[in-house]
Amino acid sequence: MTDSAWLRLVGLTKRFGGVSAVDDLDLEHRAGGVLGLIGPNGAGKTTVFNMLSGAILPTSGRIELDGHDVTGLRPDQMNGRGVSRTFQNLEIFGSLSVIDNVLVARERYVRGGALGAMLGLPSGRRAAREQEAFARELLARNGLVGLADEPAASLPYGLQRRVEVARALASQPRLLLLDEPLAGLSRAESTSFATLMDQVTDEGVTVLLVEHDVTTVMSVSDRVVVLDHGSLLADGPPDAVAADPRVRAAYLGEELDA
Ligand SMILES: Nc1ncnc2c1ncn2[C@@H]1O[C@H](COP(=O)(O)OP(=O)(O)OP(=O)(O)O)[C@@H](O)[C@H]1O
Ligand SMILES: [Mg+2]
Repeated sequence: MTDSAWLRLVGLTKRFGGVSAVDDLDLEHRAGGVLGLIGPNGAGKTTVFNMLSGAILPTSGRIELDGHDVTGLRPDQMNGRGVSRTFQNLEIFGSLSVIDNVLVARERYVRGGALGAMLGLPSGRRAAREQEAFARELLARNGLVGLADEPAASLPYGLQRRVEVARALASQPRLLLLDEPLAGLSRAESTSFATLMDQVTDEGVTVLLVEHDVTTVMSVSDRVVVLDHGSLLADGPPDAVAADPRVRAAYLGEELDA
């Protein structure tokens, strides 16, 4: 155990019937940077995210964040602790405009303000203007300039993915969980991802990145953890993990040789 651990998983376990999706996982991470989480299909990556975001309860084990036991908190409570996520299968509000997708994630900042805005109170109008300015800035940073008022569902898939990331950032998370943010994107659409990771981590956000595009994971991560059958197979700097014979045998061989 190290004192500098900011995120700590202790014996984290999730069983579905007879399947141990996550099996007695111990992991410590200090704040900051990108932690890549990779592994074959069914390794338990999304299940880890589901527990970290409060979507499902662990069967056993503990999650600590910044010295607090946050095991079993609800999604809104985890969000209140600074945890925010995107989903493997894109989840945005298709019928809402792009900017409203971001603004819904700002609701906890405008309590009272939203009502005040509806009633036409000056303080409420000011709060609403501030939120809109914040949202527009976030859209700009995510390459969504000029699209604020479009229905989210009308955007090409790659841009919808960006809307989801912008919404996840809107609650100003300390821990951002990205579950395959590049899935379904072309090379060209993926190019700005490294820049976004730099920006986000420069602001002190810790990113947990699940992504099948191993080349990208290796290039943007400070540390890479490999899961296999719910357990830790390898853990270290990207180069060391990529060279690990067990990792290559279990998972990476073909992809890295390709
Ligand atoms: N809600 C569920 N009910 C039953 N089994 C589940 C459930 N969610 C996940 N599993 C099982 O748990 C294991 C881990 O699944 P998980 O989705 O976490 O893997 P993953 O590493 O994200 O895989 P992928 O790379 O395909 O997204 C798999 O065997 C999966 O079938
Ligand atoms: Mg998954």
